[in-house]
Amino acid sequence: MFEKLSQLPDDPILGLMVAFGEDSNPNKIDLGVGVYKTEQGDTPVMESVKQAERDIWELEQTKLYIGPAGAPEFSTAMRSLLLGSSHPALIDNRVATIQTPGGSGALRVAAELAKKGNPNATIWVSDPTWGNHIPLLSDTGLQIKTYPYYDVASHGVNFDGMMATLTQAKAGDLVLLHGCCHNPSGADLSQQQWQAVTQLANKKGFTPFIDIAYQGFGEGIEEDAYGVRLMAEQLPELLIASSCSKNFGIYRERTGSVLVVSKNATQAQACASQLARIVRGIYSMPPSHGAAVVAHILQNDSLRQHWLDELDTMRKRIFQLRGQLLEQLSKKGASSDFSFITQQSGMFSFLDISPAQVQRLRDEFSIYMTGDSRINVAGVNSHNIDYLSSAIVSVL
Ligand code: LMR
Repeated sequence: MFEKLSQLPDDPILGLMVAFGEDSNPNKIDLGVGVYKTEQGDTPVMESVKQAERDIWELEQTKLYIGPAGAPEFSTAMRSLLLGSSHPALIDNRVATIQTPGGSGALRVAAELAKKGNPNATIWVSDPTWGNHIPLLSDTGLQIKTYPYYDVASHGVNFDGMMATLTQAKAGDLVLLHGCCHNPSGADLSQQQWQAVTQLANKKGFTPFIDIAYQGFGEGIEEDAYGVRLMAEQLPELLIASSCSKNFGIYRERTGSVLVVSKNATQAQACASQLARIVRGIYSMPPSHGAAVVAHILQNDSLRQHWLDELDTMRKRIFQLRGQLLEQLSKKGASSDFSFITQQSGMFSFLDISPAQVQRLRDEFSIYMTGDSRINVAGVNSHNIDYLSSAIVSVL
């Protein structure tokens, strides 16, 4: 049986962690996997998370099963974080929520639910999109199509191209959108563009499927939820997959959620039961710890404020790094205009250099990024920015 299975190549994103770890160059720079890094290049446990873990260690009385949907207090907290506490969809009880193993688990479970609703659904994903979207979503057996998104010439969103293609999306199809901080391009929809996509969804009857993995890293925790909140209010149906990996820095704890906004409370209840059945058939129930930490932080006013302050610090640091990188590249005489780096948001931007140039940065300078020239801006710091910008300029 196993002799039929061949060796697969490394994961294009996660494989970078291994390659970077094995590189002995003391000047090596990791701009690969999307994790926050400090000025020292570390990814520490956030203080608010540490405090919550201490509290939970004291308070936790049992390790009993939590059930397929996870902890109700986590779901309540996530609904408020994503939609705001008084969102009309919440007042109408039309949102089913479950806790999932990370944002990836959320994406897969949400797609499985969509497949139960419409086995012939097509999932439209942006071109480009996060490297794991297509493998993860196509494993459901649903068909995947792409819509144009990133415009290399303007380094922004090709909104006309996107809308023109999405007119082909049918009722019963899903359109995957990045809630904020588009991964990999850093180019986000404006509020007017969110409104236009919402109108198109209403007109064509497709269901938006929002992946929001970086809430708090763009404009701010509330601002980054604009598209999610708008669509949940104006559309009859919406799928939301969210991740707590980045904004709580609990990557390995695998914590995320699925929110299903449906037409009414009866359908929301039906969706909740279907979600539980899907989960039971795959991993039975989600891990508890990360969600317990998140729920504890969000339910405790002072801890929540501490967390928001820490998140704000991360967001502002990335924003400043964007400016510093642009300044250094200009100072070193970069032949291309990199000013778009400061106009994009979140952890990522494309350098918009060729795969050969990306390879040269890796081979000659031990600078790691994905093959499409996506950089994790948080990997830049005051110790490596000079070396990094010189290296980029030398391969242009
Ligand atoms: C990334 O895009 O680098 C992160 O979302 C990590 C991952 O799982 O790919």
